[in-house]
Amino acid sequence: VALTPNATHGLHTAILGLDLQRGDEILHGDQEYSRAMAAIGQRCRRDGVIAVEAPLAAPAADPDEVARGLIERIGSRTRLIVLSQVTCATGQILPVAEVGKAAARRGVPMLVDAAHGFGLLPPTSGVLGAPFYTACLHKWLMGPIGTGVFTVQSPWLTRLWPLHPADDGQEGSAAKFEQWGTHAVAPFLALDEALDLHERLGRALLRARLDHLRAQMAAALGAHAGIRLLTDLAPDRSAAILAIAVDRAPAVELSDWLWREHRIHTATAPVAGARALRLSPHVFTSGGEIRRLVAALGAAATKGIHS
Ligand SMILES: Cc1ncc(COP(=O)(O)O)c(C=O)c1O
Repeated sequence: VALTPNATHGLHTAILGLDLQRGDEILHGDQEYSRAMAAIGQRCRRDGVIAVEAPLAAPAADPDEVARGLIERIGSRTRLIVLSQVTCATGQILPVAEVGKAAARRGVPMLVDAAHGFGLLPPTSGVLGAPFYTACLHKWLMGPIGTGVFTVQSPWLTRLWPLHPADDGQEGSAAKFEQWGTHAVAPFLALDEALDLHERLGRALLRARLDHLRAQMAAALGAHAGIRLLTDLAPDRSAAILAIAVDRAPAVELSDWLWREHRIHTATAPVAGARALRLSPHVFTSGGEIRRLVAALGAAATKGIHS
């Protein structure tokens, strides 16, 4: 286990650190995080690597179908699979354990992006035991900004180049991925507090609160003409996050408008070939705040955002 400043650090270590040849393929889903996609894109431009994208339906398809769609794209040139445990775009829970098993049978390593899995879903060996695993601790664990983990299983430890060059003596240890220069240790020391709080709340209660807030948003928004829900709310298919499309307002403009006019922060993400609005309350979000968001989105869906 290497301590890192964030999940991006692990994404970039694994995606940039494997020796790949021109024509080798990296397989990924179409809801991967922008920094993962930027690293894959750079490998394509720099090394002639080919990115193979598996499209995901929104709302999510049956998990077996999702797994099949990914596994059937593993080919003889696949050298890495990049998959989120929970996608940032729609909150979809991806079948990483199933895909990882199929990949392992073919000798292909998988990088699990657990930025939204860590602290939210139970840690299973199929996820934590992936050849490469990266997570940040500032999201659902509620740890300090500037803390993350990256893990590598053998035999990949000695096959992966670190992002920041290490000394020869560090080759066989995770310390080779921790050579990112002088940095503050206070955030890591404060993790004890975050772990305590997380444990006291309990993962189940945290998840229940997030799913409750999301269900509240979804019930109101889903009943509104001109608003489409892009997340399947079934608890085995998604967690915490809700993606929507509003017919009268493109997602990026709508997100800007929500901040400018209502001081409500949202994000946008690519979902099924278009940009969607991504709503992500935290445990401390109140019912009143959810109602304020729903009212603003209802007005945008009815009147648009240019009146
Ligand atoms: C799925 C996913 N992966 C990776 C990241 C990057 O996390 P960090 O900012 O800790 O690098 C994020 C951040 O939002 C994310 O949603």
